[in-house]
Amino acid sequence: MKLAGHVAIVTGTSPNIGGGIAEGLAAEGARVVCADALADNAAQCAEWIRGRGGEAVAVTADVTDEAQVEAMVARARDAYGGVDVLVNNAGILGGLSVLEMPLERWNRQIAVNLTGTFLCTKHVARLMVEQGRRGSIIVIVSTAGHQGQAGNIAYSTSKSGLLNFTRAAAMDLARHGIRVNSLTPTATDAEEGIERAVAWGRPRAERRGGMLDFRKMAPLGTLPSPRHYARAAVFLASDDAEMITGFDLRVDAGAVAKYWPWIPPP
Ligand SMILES: NC(=O)c1ccc[n+]([C@@H]2O[C@H](COP(=O)([O-])OP(=O)(O)OC[C@H]3O[C@@H](n4cnc5c(N)ncnc54)[C@H](O)[C@@H]3O)[C@@H](O)[C@H]2O)c1
Repeated sequence: MKLAGHVAIVTGTSPNIGGGIAEGLAAEGARVVCADALADNAAQCAEWIRGRGGEAVAVTADVTDEAQVEAMVARARDAYGGVDVLVNNAGILGGLSVLEMPLERWNRQIAVNLTGTFLCTKHVARLMVEQGRRGSIIVIVSTAGHQGQAGNIAYSTSKSGLLNFTRAAAMDLARHGIRVNSLTPTATDAEEGIERAVAWGRPRAERRGGMLDFRKMAPLGTLPSPRHYARAAVFLASDDAEMITGFDLRVDAGAVAKYWPWIPPP
């Protein structure tokens, strides 16, 4: 139990990545605050963790609303006494090209992906400093933040911004012993998220095929699942990573390391 006695807030606890990370942290002994703008995503994630013997509470919160973020942090403090780990995972995926993107949609995606991470980090870090907790803050990025992705201007831009947000926040918080690192997922195998949704009592979703065969282009020949990100999040949250801050941990099956025109042999 690497996180026994720890309290973690995870934002964006859908059955996909956030739910997988929340479950992974709980499996290592963390008490988890599952926070989502959609009440069902927060409630069902917390319920699932409690049903398996863990401790969790649900908070409905929009990460772009500072008052709601403050209320989320206050709820964690009331329920469990404070916060040791924050996983900034809430995000809006997908988008449009720079030619098509309406300003309103750009503003919303930047607000959730970038400003939401700033607000959650600000208020969780303030509580950590007040309580003298040497906590760990994790920022969920994307390989689209490392590379220029076509047709996804606000997403690619916001995720790239988060890489340097992580480094700058790590410098602000280093003297308080609070570590800030990012974790980079990539195109994610859909199966685990579909199964988790079914386990939470939802109807089975159809697998949707994209235009690109991501699996074939991944150097490891397979795509990561939420549980792989969860293991990396446990590492960054735990004392095993006590000397690591301002770092980006890519869990991307080798995607970003690849020489771009190389297509791995089958
Ligand atoms: N799925 C992928 O292939 C992939 C790849 C790379 C990175 N990521 C990143 O991983 C994270 C999770 O992705 P996912 O695939 O699980 O997506 P998802 O859409 O299943 O989950 C995102 C969650 O964030 C919540 N959310 C959205 N706006 C919010 C707000 N304003 N306040 C609070 N919660 C809000 C949603 O309700 C949802 O539960 C995102 O940051 C995403 O960018 C995903």
